[in-house]
Amino acid sequence: TITPVLMAGGSGTRLWPVSRKSFPKQFAALVGDETLFQASARRLSGEGFADPVVMTNSDFRFIVAEQLEQAGIQAGRIVIEPAGRNTAPAILAAALMVAETDAQGMVLVAPSDHVIPDAAAFAAAVAEGTGPAAEGRIVTFGITPDRPETGYGYLELAGAGAGPQPLARFVEKPDADRAARMLEAGNFLWNAGIFLFRADVMIQAFRDHAPHYLDPVQASLSGAQTDLGFLRLAKQPWLEVEDQSIDYAVMEKADNLTVVRFSGRWSDLGGWDAVWREALDRTPSAEGVVCDDNSTAIDCHDVLLRSDSDDLKVVGIGLRDVMVVATSDAVLVADRGRAQEVRKAVTALKQTR
Ligand code: GDD
Ligand code: MG
Repeated sequence: TITPVLMAGGSGTRLWPVSRKSFPKQFAALVGDETLFQASARRLSGEGFADPVVMTNSDFRFIVAEQLEQAGIQAGRIVIEPAGRNTAPAILAAALMVAETDAQGMVLVAPSDHVIPDAAAFAAAVAEGTGPAAEGRIVTFGITPDRPETGYGYLELAGAGAGPQPLARFVEKPDADRAARMLEAGNFLWNAGIFLFRADVMIQAFRDHAPHYLDPVQASLSGAQTDLGFLRLAKQPWLEVEDQSIDYAVMEKADNLTVVRFSGRWSDLGGWDAVWREALDRTPSAEGVVCDDNSTAIDCHDVLLRSDSDDLKVVGIGLRDVMVVATSDAVLVADRGRAQEVRKAVTALKQTR
């Protein structure tokens, strides 16, 4: 069996005003009825999977517990990180926890804020990865890139052909020039941010490439306390751990990486334009209109109209390439092509207060 480890500690600002510091995007229903976190947990449940371990922080612990319960999914363990230290320490802690009961236990780490509509295709990719992972490889999942995105990691394929392949190189978040060259070269895939490995193999990778994480993370785990059913990692050693992502800490340095291609739809919903595109994929509209129950579009083209408050109706007339997102206390109105700048709104609001 595979132990799924869901990473649910991050906060996203590009999906403001739905995504907030106290309620980040993974806990919102951005497309479909379930939240991204619930859909992610469901994707990693059922046959072949143990109950999921969720890595999160104190602020989100009750949201996590409630959303799992609502989805009818039993949590293996909900682990509270005393402070955000990015994904490297969280993944090491999860590997050490699994290793306590099964040194060679198989672990699948996944973000909780992605959209992967084809669960069967995803399960098939995971099944393809289990062979190499059992043999001691760290398996990554590769997405065919369609633009020179600088917010992702890139996986350089060592050879051609189908099936799992050794990775020549892992390049995390390249600058624009390098991203353009990798797209051009054709032998690079995007890193989906999902990793499959044996617990002992990941621990060894830290020993080889980032040994300074081991003592504080182990100490934090040894001093962990159970609190209302949550596992709270010990604070003091955790605060000493380096704040870094697994991609920089381990993946860029490891020499035992394998990639499995994932050709199903995949999106990290990096902005409202991506939410709009995903919604259209589920419910096609010739005019490109995406509306929820609280909003109405009259003679609109390529718009997203959404209100998360039943007390606030949104009506658009004659709009083109516009996104309107309302909550009970904030309304975003933006040009569709400038979705990435929503981050600026959050910064601007912080300054005016
Ligand atoms: N528990 C926990 N604690 N989770 C965290 C923390 C933390 O301190 N920080 C981030 N996360 C969670 C996020 O909520 C998200 O689900 C996942 O870990 C990845 O973090 P991001 O901050 O979203 O990473 P990224 O998008 O910049 O880059 C990663 O994902 C890309 C694909 O979306 C990398 O793995 C890239 O290589 C990859 O292409
Ligand atoms: Mg991300």
